[in-house]
Amino acid sequence: MAIVKFIDLFCGIGGIRLGMDAQGFECVFSSDINTECQRTYYENFGELPYGDITQIDEKSIPDHDILCAGFPCQPFSISGKQKGFDDTRGTLFFDICRILNEKKPPVVFLENVKHLVHHNGGKTLQAILDKLIELGYSVSWKVLNGADFGVPQNRERIIIIGSLVGKFNFDKLKTVPRSRLLESLDTDVEFEYLNENEYTLIENPKQQPGSGLIFAGYRNKSIRKVGVRPGTEHLSRVHKQPNRIYSVLGIHPTLPSQESSGRYFILTTDNRVRKLTINECWRIMGFPETYVKVSSIGEQYKQLGNSVCIPMIKSVAEEINNQFFGGEQIAES
Ligand SMILES: C[S@@+](CC[C@H](N)C(=O)[O-])C[C@H]1O[C@@H](n2cnc3c(N)ncnc32)[C@H](O)[C@@H]1O
Repeated sequence: MAIVKFIDLFCGIGGIRLGMDAQGFECVFSSDINTECQRTYYENFGELPYGDITQIDEKSIPDHDILCAGFPCQPFSISGKQKGFDDTRGTLFFDICRILNEKKPPVVFLENVKHLVHHNGGKTLQAILDKLIELGYSVSWKVLNGADFGVPQNRERIIIIGSLVGKFNFDKLKTVPRSRLLESLDTDVEFEYLNENEYTLIENPKQQPGSGLIFAGYRNKSIRKVGVRPGTEHLSRVHKQPNRIYSVLGIHPTLPSQESSGRYFILTTDNRVRKLTINECWRIMGFPETYVKVSSIGEQYKQLGNSVCIPMIKSVAEEINNQFFGGEQIAES
């Protein structure tokens, strides 16, 4: 039985790789431009990823069966006339296309933020799907939530899968019942509690239907009042998480990529408010406890916010194995 080989583009700290490795697939190439991500990847997988993908000749990339890429979302200026995948030139998706065009791997697995679905009025996603179809792939996509795969985090991501032999069926993915943040908390460390005058709790916090979040209150710190709509003072202007407090009886909101100081605050069962620890952040992304962290705490927050929920990727990788490779690879237990 031939071993299924994959490449790990925009590999970051290897979140997608953890899911693919668990299926017994073999990584034959990785690339990320960020040196801190490279360092973390090296410590965990023993390979130093290549750098800027735009500078790498597609012919030099080893043959593979699956191209994996959690690529940054960028605007495309789609020309009226179709010029093959050339009209995505200048974007990192173009680099994915030129590798697909050269290497023709049977499967392509792309991951991106949910926002891609509506980006540029849906045109960006449509352009991506069209290019993959042009390159001969049957394509399917779905927005998945990490919370449905065993982590207590509301983290929605679009997964796009293209195959040269038939469409991927997302209905076969194994999901699990949602868990609560409470079950993923540290027990024996010193926590950073807020003083009572630093936050305001709302009366009767309720589970938000759909997301499973329980909004419990907000921090009083840094409230901007000027030019802000009344009643929304506690919402941060850039992104809404930092001043909001969520109950541990629900799930946690998405850990965003812009955050470098981990301003995530939770309401505990003894009615106190504390900062979520960095280890708890790793846990609610589904990283194994054995995963080696070498970067500064600030870098770790950024790496986490850019990464993927591991159990979700594992589930997708398992179905890629079942649907396209006969489930023959020996998965780790
Ligand atoms: C959304 S993150 C992917 C994270 C990854 N899935 C993980 O689990 O950590 C996108 C990554 O693309 C990398 N990147 C951006 N431009 C790049 C380039 N020109 N060449 C290679 N990597 C690049 C960034 O450094 C970042 O780590």
